[in-house]
Amino acid sequence: MSSFQAPKGVSEYFPPISEQFEYVRDQLLRTARLAGYSLIELPVFEDTEVFTRGVGESTDVVSKEMYTFEDRGGRSITLRPEGTAGVMRAVIEHNLDRGQLPVKLFYTGPFFRAERPQAGRYRQFYQVGIEAIGYNDPEIDVEVIAVADSAFKALGLKKYRLNITSLGDAQSRDAHRKDLVKYISTLKLDEATVSRAQLNPLRLFDDKRDEVKAAMAKAPLLLDYLSAQSKQHFEKVKVLLTDIGIAYEIKPTMVRGLDYYTGTTFEFDHEMLGAQSGIGGGGRYDGLMSSLGGADVSGIGFGLGVDRILMACQAENSLPSVINQIQLFIAPITETGKSHAFKLLAELRSSGITCDMAYGDRALKGAMKAADKSGAKYGLVIGDDEISSGRCELKLMSSGEVISSSLELSDLIKRIGNK
Ligand code: HAM
Repeated sequence: MSSFQAPKGVSEYFPPISEQFEYVRDQLLRTARLAGYSLIELPVFEDTEVFTRGVGESTDVVSKEMYTFEDRGGRSITLRPEGTAGVMRAVIEHNLDRGQLPVKLFYTGPFFRAERPQAGRYRQFYQVGIEAIGYNDPEIDVEVIAVADSAFKALGLKKYRLNITSLGDAQSRDAHRKDLVKYISTLKLDEATVSRAQLNPLRLFDDKRDEVKAAMAKAPLLLDYLSAQSKQHFEKVKVLLTDIGIAYEIKPTMVRGLDYYTGTTFEFDHEMLGAQSGIGGGGRYDGLMSSLGGADVSGIGFGLGVDRILMACQAENSLPSVINQIQLFIAPITETGKSHAFKLLAELRSSGITCDMAYGDRALKGAMKAADKSGAKYGLVIGDDEISSGRCELKLMSSGEVISSSLELSDLIKRIGNK
């Protein structure tokens, strides 16, 4: 019988790479926390309509990529393909927008899209996201972008770029849509593309086919249709970004993969990742809450792809070489040594020292091999001599250097804890 394999296209992490994954995710979360965002923990599945209405029927995400199934009660359920629609559902359901504004939330976890798997594109992937709900301020737009930027910098990344544009307010989009639809009607397109354009004509800017790309090169750009207010907002965003030293490029044809965006939108690309270079993206979504049945409250946020950011850090070699190091590894070499070590571990751990020991019946050589493999900073051997004298030899594992040749076992916590 053949053994099982994980479903096609999912990302999985196990030691030692899972240490890097955890480090990257925690740095991203830390930066969100530093900017005053708090955790929101949500279900990984929602009523399908949260996404069809929230994310939009013209998107690939909704039309082709959702994991949708009927639950045992006959309800249509979908594994979350993204985080924003679910956050809005929760904000509306629990009246989170009735208190102090903006509501600033962060989340992390797995997301699911039935895409064609390739390097950096998975069917289950991980995001860290933030949402700032309640104000339509250029300052908040820039705060959100700056949180992502600082997170990348904290991870030591350098080779990434920020692209921004504005999708304007409803007035800007209506004016542009009229001209864009007129322009598109002059093009020779297949039926599927025409119906996609009817749902959202902006999608054609994102078409990967050369002939469509060429035809869209002369299409009217939304940035040229911004209302006075939207223009002013976008200008302020640019000034603020420059003020805080964040470089950007304006990309007027940028189309995000989700339909809820309005106003400022942005994407971060990493130069060393090949085809799947998007390490994060987001933007403003001023109509989303009302379209899900809530009040007309604005919001902006981002989703960062943890899997791809990890790949970017590996490509730039920007991660610390040692993460989550075990501080002490104990190699017991006699039966009494083993029970002694076992008790000692419990004491050390309750004092906050990360430690482990060699299990099983191993002679000195085997126990030392286990100590080496553990990657621990310090190592010590416990046998009958150490127990009767109450002293041990504490070694630095990397060099074998003896740190203390006769350390009282009872002083271990002080010695290692102080390091
Ligand atoms: P998104 O651009 O669809 O936005 O996804 C955000 C990030 O998730 C992408 O830039 C990418 O790094 C990662 N990602 C997306 N799909 C995959 C995949 N199949 N495999 C690996 N990584 C992937 C959103 O999801 C919005 N909810 C972001 C947002 C929050 N907008 C406003 N608030």
